[in-house]
Amino acid sequence: NWRKIEMTERTLAIVKPDGVNQKKVGEIIRRIERKGYDIIAIKMLQADEKLLRQHYAELVGRPFFPGLLKYMMENEVVAMVVEGDNVVKGWRTLMGTTNPTEATPGTIRGDFGRDWPGDEVRNVVHGSDTPENAEREIKLWFPELKR
Ligand code: PPS
Repeated sequence: NWRKIEMTERTLAIVKPDGVNQKKVGEIIRRIERKGYDIIAIKMLQADEKLLRQHYAELVGRPFFPGLLKYMMENEVVAMVVEGDNVVKGWRTLMGTTNPTEATPGTIRGDFGRDWPGDEVRNVVHGSDTPENAEREIKLWFPELKR
């Protein structure tokens, strides 16, 4: 009914190049489905600079941005639209905190993330930080999705 539709939220989840490279895509999807979320769209793609500059628009001036760009283009990523009640917050809980060394064991970043000495953070996954950003990011990564 309308109430359920209005309560259900969507987020953009990305398995970053290191997650694909480490063959963690299946494990990550397993965790999303075990939590009861629905994957309503999924694709593997090579991100380009244009897409990433729009996606990370608020980070373009940061000192780590060039490293983040290079990391995100190392190989293909898997992008997903994930749906469920409170999924924006819930997916970020499954991911763990940004910095893998500080991320709780049992979270995706806590289990599979790496801080490479002298290199950028490789934290395996991305998740939108607010429902508004989720809608913006979903339009960017899934322009073909008509709902
Ligand atoms: S901030 O300062 O709070 O806005 O930054 P934060 O939310 O922690 O991170 C924003 C995104 O930038 C990524 N990030 C980095 N990538 C590589 N190297 C370094 N040093 C680094 N610092 C932050 C971080 O993972 C966030 O990306 P996403 O894809 O959203 O996780």
